[in-house]
Amino acid sequence: MTYLASNKPITLPELGRMKKDGEKIATLTAYDASFAALEDRCGVDVILVGDSLGNVIQGKTSTLPVTMEQMVYHTECVGHMAQRAMVAADMPFGSYQESKELAMRNAVRLLAAGAEMIKLEGGEVMAETVHFLVERGIPVWAHIGLTPQSVHALGGYRIQGKGEQAAARMKDDALALQQAGAAMLLLEMIPAVLGSELTQALTIPTIGIGAGPGCSGQVLVLHDMLGVYPGKKGRFVKDFMLEAQSIDGAVRAYVEAVRNGSYPTSEHSY
Ligand code: KIV
Repeated sequence: MTYLASNKPITLPELGRMKKDGEKIATLTAYDASFAALEDRCGVDVILVGDSLGNVIQGKTSTLPVTMEQMVYHTECVGHMAQRAMVAADMPFGSYQESKELAMRNAVRLLAAGAEMIKLEGGEVMAETVHFLVERGIPVWAHIGLTPQSVHALGGYRIQGKGEQAAARMKDDALALQQAGAAMLLLEMIPAVLGSELTQALTIPTIGIGAGPGCSGQVLVLHDMLGVYPGKKGRFVKDFMLEAQSIDGAVRAYVEAVRNGSYPTSEHSY
């Protein structure tokens, strides 16, 4: 049975408390009103309007073509459906890298559309932008490790942070983002050992996807955990529909598995 720690809306202080008390944070993507409401009633803590919509909704091979207009539209669809879950939205490629002022203008659009936090990709290089947004009242979730908007620069969707130097660089990135005021950190496709080390080194929560069981919480793309995405799947993906009677059942099973630590395991890690 899925339990809710409380029915009170999830806030940034509550996410911080969950990390401190070792309560795992269950996060899932949604792109429309019906799934947002379903995830909320099934106990998802943070709903992410991900730019993964480029892959799973639009059928593109990357997130790069996703526009601000599309993110605003999907954030409006999701934004006001959650009673308890916090709603976060991705800043799409090109909407924040050029200047902190551009980032501010676009973050404002996502908050006006219903997001309560924005997510952006990049390490230390984005710290100044993160600081600028946070100082002006925008909660920021920073995303490091495999950053899909840099897929061409990274040479594909490959594990990041392997080896001592790369791991040390990622630790510097994580600390710089925390120092800049990021509220959470998303860690994508990194060694499980590094996921645990970063989680212990930081006071803010870490949300993993292919970063091992040691993170403060987990995220999956909805279409992956329902087994409906026809594309290639990462090792970290688990299809929760296989053992469920309904979509509600699958989402509840995901939330419970994250909370009780039975997902992810070493089988889903690098
Ligand atoms: O866009 C997205 O769905 C993401 C995933 C890593 C969760 O950022």
